[in-house]
Amino acid sequence: SRSIRLAVIPGDGIGPEVVAEGLKVLAAVLPPDVKLETSPYDLGARRWHAGGEILPDAELQSLRHHDAILLGAIGDPTVPSGVLERGLLLKLRFAFDHYVNLRPGKRPPNTGDRPSVDFVVVREGTEGPYTGNGGALRVGTPAEVATEVSVNTAYGVERVIRYAFELADARSRRKLTLVHKNNVLVHAGNLWQHTFDTVAAEYPGVTTDYLHVDAATIFFVTRPERFDVIVTDNLFGDILTDLAAAVTGGIGLASSGNINPTGAHPSMFEPVHGSAPDIAGTGKADPTATVLSVALLLRHLGYEQEARRIEAAVTADLAERDAAAPRSTEQIGDALTARLAG
Ligand code: IPM
Ligand code: MN
Repeated sequence: SRSIRLAVIPGDGIGPEVVAEGLKVLAAVLPPDVKLETSPYDLGARRWHAGGEILPDAELQSLRHHDAILLGAIGDPTVPSGVLERGLLLKLRFAFDHYVNLRPGKRPPNTGDRPSVDFVVVREGTEGPYTGNGGALRVGTPAEVATEVSVNTAYGVERVIRYAFELADARSRRKLTLVHKNNVLVHAGNLWQHTFDTVAAEYPGVTTDYLHVDAATIFFVTRPERFDVIVTDNLFGDILTDLAAAVTGGIGLASSGNINPTGAHPSMFEPVHGSAPDIAGTGKADPTATVLSVALLLRHLGYEQEARRIEAAVTADLAERDAAAPRSTEQIGDALTARLAG
């Protein structure tokens, strides 16, 4: 019989609340013959306060022995900025070689006269300015210098571009946009551009174009429907996907997968939003982003039909949402679960 060994990191702020609803939906959609084993991991601000631990090696090793990881949110105003982000979230992305950070942007057609939007940002996840390659000199003096050097390797750039071409080739519009800033960041820009052009030759069915990242932000706002698949570096992808969320229904709907396509390490699925400490415990958090991340998780593990059922339930639920009558985190989770059961 089939089974899913799922590691769960609820994390900080609204993380535990949205993860609870994601797990509810997961349990509701799985066929009865699939055995779901979840193991919770107590990582995040509480753990750090309790004893200074962020991600002990034993836990990192034990996380490996799972088919996938579901993560809520990491970060808390009581912990110095960067400690948990670098020490936990980014550590997991690097340790498990999550070189594809997959972030869909969807706006259903039932939103008045605006065109529907359906794109996917393939954000590189293990390189760029996120590697920690840099340093500071003479800190606190008038002569302070800080560098944050973006790392781009032929190996890293090619594998994520290849993934993006494969994805674009499998979609109906078969269009891929490279986003960078090759008029200023010429060294990395050249590597991305010539790798993109070389791989493009293997995918004659995929239409390609290029946008500078600043120009891309304009199109995200004015004409998001122009995009199909977008491939970009780690930092541009971080910024663009918050913007993408804002133009496709809000950050409460934005899902993501930190994927190692080779299957050598478990992939990790999480909402794009953060821990939102301002609304933690109020029941106001929208669990939809986590639920859609569960759909990405299922798709990654080969449960395509179940992933689609979740996405259809969300689309139907969105069509019935009433801004004047907001529902609680739990009510949204229950409504989605009821749709899947019914
Ligand atoms: C995201 C977040 C993270 C990132 C932070 C919390 C490290 O903003 O997942 O988009 O920058 O990747
Ligand atoms: Mn971000």
